[in-house]
This record gives sequence, C-alpha cells and structure tokens, in this order.
Amino acid sequence: MTKTIGVISIKGGVGKTTVTSNLGAVLANEFGKKVLIVDANFSAPNLGLHFGLIKPENATIHDVVLNKSSMEKATYVHDAGFHFVPGSLVASGKIDVYSLKKKLKEFKKNYDVVLIDSSPTLSSEILATMIASDELLVVTSPDYPTLSCTIRAVKLARQKNVPIVGMVLNKQRGKDFELKVEDIEELAEVPVLSSLPEDVTVLEALSLATPVSLHAPGRRVSSEYKKLAAALIGEKYQDPRMLSRLNEMLFKDRSREAKNRHKLYKDRVKI
Ligand SMILES: Nc1ncnc2c1ncn2[C@@H]1O[C@H](COP(=O)(O)OP(=O)(O)OP(=O)(O)O)[C@@H](O)[C@H]1O
Ligand SMILES: [Mg+2]
Repeated sequence: MTKTIGVISIKGGVGKTTVTSNLGAVLANEFGKKVLIVDANFSAPNLGLHFGLIKPENATIHDVVLNKSSMEKATYVHDAGFHFVPGSLVASGKIDVYSLKKKLKEFKKNYDVVLIDSSPTLSSEILATMIASDELLVVTSPDYPTLSCTIRAVKLARQKNVPIVGMVLNKQRGKDFELKVEDIEELAEVPVLSSLPEDVTVLEALSLATPVSLHAPGRRVSSEYKKLAAALIGEKYQDPRMLSRLNEMLFKDRSREAKNRHKLYKDRVKI
C-alpha cells in the first residue's frame, strides 16, 4: 500500500522542502523504496531548485492540476533513484483543492511512498496537501512565533480529520533560550519524531542542488533523517557512526524523539 505523507507548516522557510527532499532521498537511496515527491507549493514552488532543475522542460504539477497534462509527463527522475514532480514558477490559474488528490489516486500506486511538499499559506494550497495526504508531518523550529503557526496548522489538520504522524523540529541550535521538545509537545499535542540541528552543510548542499543526506551522509543531520525515514516506514535503522553506536550500546538513545520513533515503528510494524 502506498503511503502519502504531506509535509506542512504555516510559516515559510522553516524547512518543509528540505525535509521532504531529504526524506525522499533517504527512503530511495538507503531503504530502496519507490518514492515520488510532489511540489504542492503552488504559489512559490522550489522543489525543482533543490534538485538542480531550474526550468522544467516537460510538464509541471501546475499543468497536471489544471488538466493540461498528465502525472506521467510531469514526473522527473533524480539520479538518486526517486521521482519528483516540480512546479512552474510562471504558471497561473486557480487550483481546485481536490485536484491533487484526484491526480494522485491512480498514479501513486506506482510508489511505496509519496511525499507532498506543501505551501505555507493558510489557503486552498495547504488544504490541497491535507486532502491528498494519508497523514501529515509538521515542521517547526524551536521558537514561539513558529510554534504558534505550527499549532494553527495542527488545528487545521484536526478540523479536516487528517492524522498527524508527528513533528520535525528543524534548525535546532542547542541554545538554552530555545523551546524544549517537552514544551513543544505539550503545546502542540503532537509527538516530536526528530530534532534536526541547524547545520551550514544543509546550505552548502542546497548550493550544490543535492539533498544534504546525499551530499554529506556522515553528518548528524543526515543520520537524523535516516532515523526519521526508518520510523515512517516501520523499519529499523542502525546509525553506523562509531560514536553514535558506542553511545547507543552504553546508554541507549533515551531522547523523547527516539521513544516517539520507536512507538511509531511498533505501530507501523503492526500494520
Ligand atoms: N537544518 C538546517 N540547517 C541549516 N539550514 C537549513 C536547515 N534546514 C533548512 N535549512 C535552510 O533553510 C532555508 C529554508 O528551507 P526550505 O526551503 O526547506 O523551507 P520551506 O519551509 O520549504 O520554505 P517555503 O515555505 O518558503 O517553501 C533553506 O535555505 C534551507 O537550506
Ligand atoms: Mg518550500
């Protein structure tokens, strides 16, 4: 069964596209899954730019949802093995909130996992992602302004009855003034599955149009992506880095995120 996961936040620049592209890369490259990533940030699409595709030569998601082309024609193949559907920076036209779901209905059967990169605007665009998704991954960062937007996104998803699988806490600097995982979970009432450090390597990777998990697979941020991806598909992942293995052997990973991932893994395996 294909799993369709929408990656959302009601704030720009939090890291939705980065999280989506890295999860896609890791699921394909590390776990051998058939992955499709769709750009559903219709007003400001930039998924293609994360993969070095500046001007899509064939169709785009806009052509598909506006009934001008097909999913097949708008799908591009990345060297790392996953497929993606970019948007067009110059397209215009009103997007029907149900169109994405309709267009994915048959096409998604070709994949194990479909990841949808959402728009941050509280509009029909984010609704299109919610409606097309089986579940949602909410991206936030550890500060009050972002968290307040995150809570709005969570409430909207609940109103629309779309399950939220968990939260990704991105751009963590490890500073005392940052919101703690426990506080974020309590306020948003959603488990944090992953804390991703702010890492300049992510920006370096972006400048090379490569997901950081492929550009620098040994970085902690890349390892965190692998742990998150594994939990989402109900697989186990052993961090190969020496220090991390030693840590796990001696102390076990007792973080809330690790416990939440383990719970998700157990839920997934049951299915
Ligand atoms: N963990 C990280 N460490 C450092 N930089 C990061 C990290 N995650 C994302 N970034 C950077 O933050 C910027 C915004 O990321 P991204 O484009 O993924 O956000 P977004 O939520 O998709 O934004 P939008 O809502 O505008 O589509 C990018 O330059 C990206 O490289
Ligand atoms: Mg984005």
